[in-house]
Amino acid sequence: MFKCFHMGFMFELLPDKNCGLCSRLAGFRCENRKKFPDQYNAPVPSFGLQDAQLLIVGLAPGLKGANFSGRPFTGDYAGELLYATLLAFGFAKGKYAAHKNDGLELVDAKITNAVKCVPPENKPTGEEIKACRSFLKREIEAMPKLKVILSLGLVSHNAVIVATGHKQSAFKFAHGARHNLGGGVTLIDSYHCSRYNTNTGRLTPEMFNDVFKLIGEDIAA
Ligand code: URA
Repeated sequence: MFKCFHMGFMFELLPDKNCGLCSRLAGFRCENRKKFPDQYNAPVPSFGLQDAQLLIVGLAPGLKGANFSGRPFTGDYAGELLYATLLAFGFAKGKYAAHKNDGLELVDAKITNAVKCVPPENKPTGEEIKACRSFLKREIEAMPKLKVILSLGLVSHNAVIVATGHKQSAFKFAHGARHNLGGGVTLIDSYHCSRYNTNTGRLTPEMFNDVFKLIGEDIAA
């Protein structure tokens, strides 16, 4: 269990590697451990720096991507655009090579997922998102310099809104929208950089760049 000492308390930032909070996800994990014994197959920890100003929140690990590599978006199709953009905007350095030991480092950024375990069909249920929310909440609370949260997609947006103590109805998801979460933290929404969204043109690299320009402005402000 990865723990963080913050404000005098020990917080658990990641579910146990055999977490049983979600029986469906635990069952899927067991199946995958049998089928792919050499792969990571456990809740995927966040990647990056605790004292970063930017937190990127995805949906959940992809089966043969983050769930295999043990690093968010690593080996997933969605990671191609995400890491290329982070490198282009100076939020990463090194080279992204789709595996955990590629030496890539994040700069002033951290990446996590709303749900830490891989869900079947990439679709966590509402109950699973709720069960994982306390980990996201603690991760957010444990970032003392946090200025911007980038939510990739509606599920991430809603998870962040609730984890930060707000009402979903008061904050509508829209690509490129900025929401003031209080305490000096802004939430910026983007369509998820999934294969579906990028292949259909719902999210183009230019649109994603524009989101990162907004992030840069907020961090510089
Ligand atoms: N991989 C992740 O880690 N998160 C996503 O949201 C998608 C793929």
